[in-house]
Amino acid sequence: MATPAGAERYLPEDRSLDSLAAAASGCHGCALYKNASQTVFGHGHPDAPIMLVGEQPGDREDVEGLPFVGPAGRLLARALDDAGIDPDLTYQTNAVKHFKFTRKNGKRRIHQKPSRTEVVACRPWLIAEMETLQPQVVVLLGATAAQALLGTSFRLTAHRGEPVHLPDGDGLRLDPEPLLTATVHPSAVLRDRTDREKAYQLFVEDLRTARSGLTTV
Ligand code: URA
Ligand code: SF4
Repeated sequence: MATPAGAERYLPEDRSLDSLAAAASGCHGCALYKNASQTVFGHGHPDAPIMLVGEQPGDREDVEGLPFVGPAGRLLARALDDAGIDPDLTYQTNAVKHFKFTRKNGKRRIHQKPSRTEVVACRPWLIAEMETLQPQVVVLLGATAAQALLGTSFRLTAHRGEPVHLPDGDGLRLDPEPLLTATVHPSAVLRDRTDREKAYQLFVEDLRTARSGLTTV
């Protein structure tokens, strides 16, 4: 079979978030649509000033069709609250819109990290969401989301919580350029075995920094 060419050719002419979501529901831009239940597109108010970008939907998200409704989403909701960010001010999405998993003992579905090819294939949706939303602040949650926008040379451990810039010449139509920052993924906080409370506090701290980039709220 020919290699799927990515999401680009599924983009609709009308770029409202609703039109994008409707078009993405039929995306076959990579092979991930085959085993997942549905496309999990971004969700939030079309005027939301803060865009949060995760990796890909998890098991719950795949079933419910909405981003961040499982355990990672619950931690994220608590952290937003502790950072003083009203969830209604956020638009939440993922770098990859279909759940990638393997089956353990033929039953339980275990999250699998999307490949670079899949991230690149799905990137047109993320770019389109961003260009339509024109957020004031973009928070990249985890290395997959960060590298989707900033390239594979970006090191989260070296630059978490810092203002970062899109690579020159990436052609994104963003005006003005939002405050862009990357932090860990909420799942990484959940998985932290050393000092989960500390990991959580650092995560909240990064979200507070992101909030300070809001200009009109
Ligand atoms: N993890 C993510 O990256 N995104 C979700 O929507 C849920 C869990
Ligand atoms: Fe399309 Fe992205 Fe789903 Fe691949 S993961 S089929 S590119 S929506």
